[in-house]
Amino acid sequence: MQNYFLPPRIEFGDGAIQNLGEHVRTFGCKRPLLVSDAGVINAGLLAKAIDALKASNLPSATYSDIEPNPTDLSINDGVEAYKSEACDVVIAVGGGSVMDAAKAIRLLTTHAPPLEPYYADVGGIERVRDDMPPLICVPTTAGTGSEVSQGAIITDTSFNTTDRWRKRAIVTPFNMSNIALLDPGITLGMPPALTAATGMDAITHGIEAYTATKYHPIAEGVALQALKMLSANIQKVYHDGEDVTARGEMLLGSCMAAFAFQKGLGAVHSLAHQLSTDAPIPHGVANAILLPPVMEFNFSHATEKYAEIARALGIDTSSMDTDEAGRAAIDKIRAFNRALKMPKGLGDAGLDRAKIPKLGADAMLDHCHKFNPRVCMEADMVALFEAAF
Ligand SMILES: [Fe+2]
Repeated sequence: MQNYFLPPRIEFGDGAIQNLGEHVRTFGCKRPLLVSDAGVINAGLLAKAIDALKASNLPSATYSDIEPNPTDLSINDGVEAYKSEACDVVIAVGGGSVMDAAKAIRLLTTHAPPLEPYYADVGGIERVRDDMPPLICVPTTAGTGSEVSQGAIITDTSFNTTDRWRKRAIVTPFNMSNIALLDPGITLGMPPALTAATGMDAITHGIEAYTATKYHPIAEGVALQALKMLSANIQKVYHDGEDVTARGEMLLGSCMAAFAFQKGLGAVHSLAHQLSTDAPIPHGVANAILLPPVMEFNFSHATEKYAEIARALGIDTSSMDTDEAGRAAIDKIRAFNRALKMPKGLGDAGLDRAKIPKLGADAMLDHCHKFNPRVCMEADMVALFEAAF
């Protein structure tokens, strides 16, 4: 038996944030908790949400102490804010960390704390009920697509791996936001480096979702269309951040790629997840660097799919055989990395080579690689880190 979950509602368009208050009222709610972080506030984006709510005569409360890799401790504080301010709806305004934190905060407004029993690695999916307040997500970057993904990644301060806190996932279809408000105008001010990193994260989602081993033809179709839109626009938005049409294509493309990865991800994400707390290498940069070596590793197990991906990336493969077309997809990713000025390798990006054996062992604990087209062992993880170094 297969279960496929579609996002309830996606509203897309320049200025969509103006409709925030209207959406809150549609749910019959009166008191939103805005979840955000310092970067979003400094960019003036939270103010846009607050103004939109004020225009609908809706006073709101704000919890903005979300750190780049949100911990269970900040989730607890967010729940406290929701309860003490008597809120009835959660609105996330931010990137992946903010949206993931908002999902976990919303969970604990109706589920008994702590988060421990709800993590995926202890069978938490069975314990999550659909009785949570509405969640509206306003993504401020075009990359994670957390607004429609089923996962929330939380750094668990009570659970150490070899030498550090462990990132754990809460996975449930109820984590998809009730409304994803995609407003390209919100993403215009993103600096080029962040634009490139988050865009490569989205491209990695599309490629890993399309080649993941679960049977999900709906997600496969969406993944290819997402790759078309992302690859046609990533360099445009890198060079001209004010191109609102291209920003919109990136925002929708990243949302679609994240919807698609309910089919599964792959080894790139298992490896990259180890780097965000240890290196510190931004998630999208880690993905961009790791993607070509992982595609080489997977090549013999996904050749035809890589040939399809090459076409989605805009390559004319009419004179190529399947092998050549598949290889062209890998070359295209390398070309993107050069054009977007990504670091040449993980060493260049700041990784201490001595950490690789430990990180390789930890990557095996991450669930993403279970859907990788080729089975990965610990020695493979170490070899892939070395190849990307
Ligand atoms: Fe990702």
